Formats: sequence, C-alpha cells, structure tokens
Amino acid sequence: MPCAHYVTDMAKLPIILLPDPVLRRVADPIVTIDDEVRRLADDMLETMYKAPGVGLAAPQVGISRRLIVLDVSETDDEKTPFVMINPMIVKRSDKPNVHEEGCLSIPDVRVEIERPAEVTVEFLDREGKRQELAASDLLATCIQHEIDHLDGRLLIDYMSRLKRDMVIRRFKKLAREAGGV
Ligand code: NI
Repeated sequence: MPCAHYVTDMAKLPIILLPDPVLRRVADPIVTIDDEVRRLADDMLETMYKAPGVGLAAPQVGISRRLIVLDVSETDDEKTPFVMINPMIVKRSDKPNVHEEGCLSIPDVRVEIERPAEVTVEFLDREGKRQELAASDLLATCIQHEIDHLDGRLLIDYMSRLKRDMVIRRFKKLAREAGGV
C-alpha cells in the first residue's frame, strides 16, 4: 500500500491506471476517521492538484476505501477543497446535464455523460462530522464521477460496448508495454 509510511509532509501518490483491478472493486466504508485517514486525504488533494485534476477517489491511488477529494474552483487564489468520507447521494434532480468528463486513471479519454444536474450529497468531513451539500453544475458532475469510482464504475461504462472494448484493449496493451500490471 502506498500510504504505509510518510517521509515528507505531503506526498504525491502514484495514480493507478486502467486496467488495474482495484478500479473495479467496490470500496470499503471508512469506520474510524483518524490521522491516517486525514493524511491520506491531504496526500490525495496534493496528488489531484499536481495531476492536475478536479477530483480523485481513493481507489485511484490503490486504496479501496470510500474517500474522495474534489476542487472545481477555477483559479489557485480561490481553492475550495472538499474531503468527503463515505459520501452518499441522497437527492438527485430530474433535470439532466451533459458534461464531457475525463479521468486521471484513463488519460486522454473524454466521454460525454448525462447525469442529474443537481445532487445532494451526505458525507463525513475530516473531523468525522456529518455534512450535507447541495451541488450543481461541474461540482455535481464531479461528485457523481468520484462516487462512481467507489462503486467500481468508470466513465468508459457510459460508452458503447464497442468503444469501451477498444479503450480497454488500448490500455491493456499500454500496461503490457510498460512492464505489466
Ligand atoms: Ni475518474
């Protein structure tokens, strides 16, 4: 596990790629919110900012636990990081929204995905306090994308089967060329 030891204050974690089987696992709920979990959240934020990306789920750094981090703010001056532990969508709008989504675990693949435009998400914050957030637009899309990761669902699952198989084949080949996953 990449989170066992820390030598620096914040560490950039390796992001795992398709077809790593961890990405397909249903992640475990987090029972105890302790310093290790908070440290993992900090490292995930650091990793997300450096990538750069707007969201990251723990399975993407090889850790099958229900933790996501997000920041959809547009400039560095107004950073708005979110840490969500055991997030759950409790309300979805009927109104849909289409966004072109990407994923740090599937580089260079973009998929137009229709999802509810607004969602309400319940989660535990880094202190273990229950929070509720009503989100719309990019934040709503991002929350749904990251929670998908916790359930082993990836953006390629929203593609046609033909296109999905092509992407999977391409990433299997890349993994083989890189020395195997
Ligand atoms: Ni993703």
